[in-house]
Amino acid sequence: MAKPKVFVTQIIPEAGLSMVRDVCDADIWPGELPPPRDYVLDRVRGVDGILSLLTTKMDSVVMDAAGAGLKVISNYAVGFDNIDIPEATKRGIPVGHTPGVLTDTTADFAFTLLMAAARRVVEGDNYTRAGKWKTWGPSLLLGQDVYGATLGLIGFGRIGKGMAKRATGFDMKILYHDDYVPADDPFAAEIGARAVDLNTLLRESDFVSIHTPLLPETHHLIDAAALAKMKSTAILINSARGPLIDPAALYAALKNGGIAYAGLDVTEPEPIPMDSPLLTLDNIIIAPHIASASVVTRNQMAVIAANNLIAGLTGERLPHCANPQVYGK
Ligand code: DGY
Repeated sequence: MAKPKVFVTQIIPEAGLSMVRDVCDADIWPGELPPPRDYVLDRVRGVDGILSLLTTKMDSVVMDAAGAGLKVISNYAVGFDNIDIPEATKRGIPVGHTPGVLTDTTADFAFTLLMAAARRVVEGDNYTRAGKWKTWGPSLLLGQDVYGATLGLIGFGRIGKGMAKRATGFDMKILYHDDYVPADDPFAAEIGARAVDLNTLLRESDFVSIHTPLLPETHHLIDAAALAKMKSTAILINSARGPLIDPAALYAALKNGGIAYAGLDVTEPEPIPMDSPLLTLDNIIIAPHIASASVVTRNQMAVIAANNLIAGLTGERLPHCANPQVYGK
């Protein structure tokens, strides 16, 4: 029997890719950069499944190009804002994603950004390499204490809670805002985290860390008005999705002392354009979307993405489905 045809939009770790190759006739884009749109539209024609990365849009045009035989889209990411979920659901196409395995790796990195911003680690390294380190100085690169400070978590799902768990080790006071997590959440109670409205969180937090998905209603959630509510000493961390923050408003707040510092793993757009004004500032750290980038985690994501793809091709329920409504009640 002929193997199902799939298009893989970029190379993923061999742990998952070998599983795909074993059971599929796999067309894999070999480039380091995402495939051009026209190439995608051409190569998805007639496929049974697509394994996508967050760098490639999966919208109705791609689904139309694939045709009625498209049985599954498996995204190699926990987030799926690159995929038109309502459109996939309307067509009965299950969409896979990779939750769980990257929670701790991502929370580790978000906390790393928080620490690095608070203690100006990147500035310190640049200072040393530039040959500016002449003596110990009482006011050299003064930062902010993390221990005992207030951490505000926008989004208290898996990664937000992972961040909170780490913060307890630094005796931080924890506030959270999440419309889907009740104020009597057992984990929140266990660690003494307090549910608050967004304005209170922005006003009271020394560190604000974002862990909410990108949806139409969360686009530019942190805009000029939100930044104006934050303390002038506050540090903003984003390891979720770039468009949750308005970059122009962030630049103005960092430049004019509205807030003290930012640590970003994600930007709008990605990659950040080299002429972005944010790159002219010293009080920001910008990493290239690497929060889940550990060897173990990326391998596990590949296995999950492959399992989702294979399940969809064989008509089984995806182990990790972003639109379970395709299966009805
Ligand atoms: C995701 O999975 O959504 C991250 O952004 C990349 O791991």
